[in-house]
Amino acid sequence: MKDLVTIADLTTEDVRALLKLAHDVKAHPTRFRSTLSGHTLAMIFQKSSTRTRVSFEVGMSQLGGSALFLSGRDIQLGRGEPLSDTAQVLSRYVDGIMARTYAHSDVTTLAEFASIPVINGLTDLTHPCQALADLQTIEEHFDEEHGLELGDLKMAYVGDGNNMAHSLALAAAKVGMTFACAAPEGYWMDPEIVASAKATASSMNASVIETTDPAAAVAGAHVVYTDVWASMGQEDEQEKRVRDFAGFEVNAALMAVADQRTIFMHCLPAHRGEEVSAEVCDGPASVIFDQAENRLHMQKAIMITLMGD
Ligand code: CP
Ligand code: NVA
Repeated sequence: MKDLVTIADLTTEDVRALLKLAHDVKAHPTRFRSTLSGHTLAMIFQKSSTRTRVSFEVGMSQLGGSALFLSGRDIQLGRGEPLSDTAQVLSRYVDGIMARTYAHSDVTTLAEFASIPVINGLTDLTHPCQALADLQTIEEHFDEEHGLELGDLKMAYVGDGNNMAHSLALAAAKVGMTFACAAPEGYWMDPEIVASAKATASSMNASVIETTDPAAAVAGAHVVYTDVWASMGQEDEQEKRVRDFAGFEVNAALMAVADQRTIFMHCLPAHRGEEVSAEVCDGPASVIFDQAENRLHMQKAIMITLMGD
């Protein structure tokens, strides 16, 4: 594993190893405090971020290294310097690059030209770090409280077939979790990603289901997940999307058809009263802040795996 661009590139063993390390890092943080001593991570952000920025920066500091925040607007990239040159220049200074971009091809280009690991911190197409941290949250919850493994579970994703849906579908498939996505017509997942997730899922005796019926997706689900209806870069479509996603709110009535042990998940930021009711988002089934915390532990596991000696 040189880079983390998409979960499709990882093997089931890679995902399992990252999960194991993330659980270890969470349980024993001081054991890892000089693992990346003297290492530097460059973080390129073309979009806003709270969790990704803070968890990578704090994670590097806790591992003994440091992180540089590079706003896409402030570095020469924003004035047209090629990504290929940026990748090669940064490779001469730092030990890893994390990038949050609009075009997914920007991250693949960085990975192609950098001689150091490149980590996808969200693109329009995927958000692998979030999905891996979410597997950690699901595993710790269902293993500790119910003795269930990831492969025993069903995840329902209700909402836009976006970057989050894509990475969750790919991640679920890698661990044999059934994944059902309910989205309105016109907002379905990318067919290539669905084909990739389905191929992996079938080799793991799991399935990837697409429907326009939220209740059909959520029926019997152990995990109910949603994300914003308008992602970063789609702000102009907000009003149209609110209309198109009518009936797709995750609320108490929808949660009632899930498994009784179900948890509610959201990568955040959330829009209460749109994709999720405040009652569910802040209710007893919600694990949204565990998810946010686990970004830190999983990010550390990813950086140790890719950048460690
Ligand atoms: N979930 C997530 O990636 O949050 P940020 O946009 O705040 O980084
Ligand atoms: N789908 C959202 C995720 C934010 C973490 C977006 O891309 O804006």
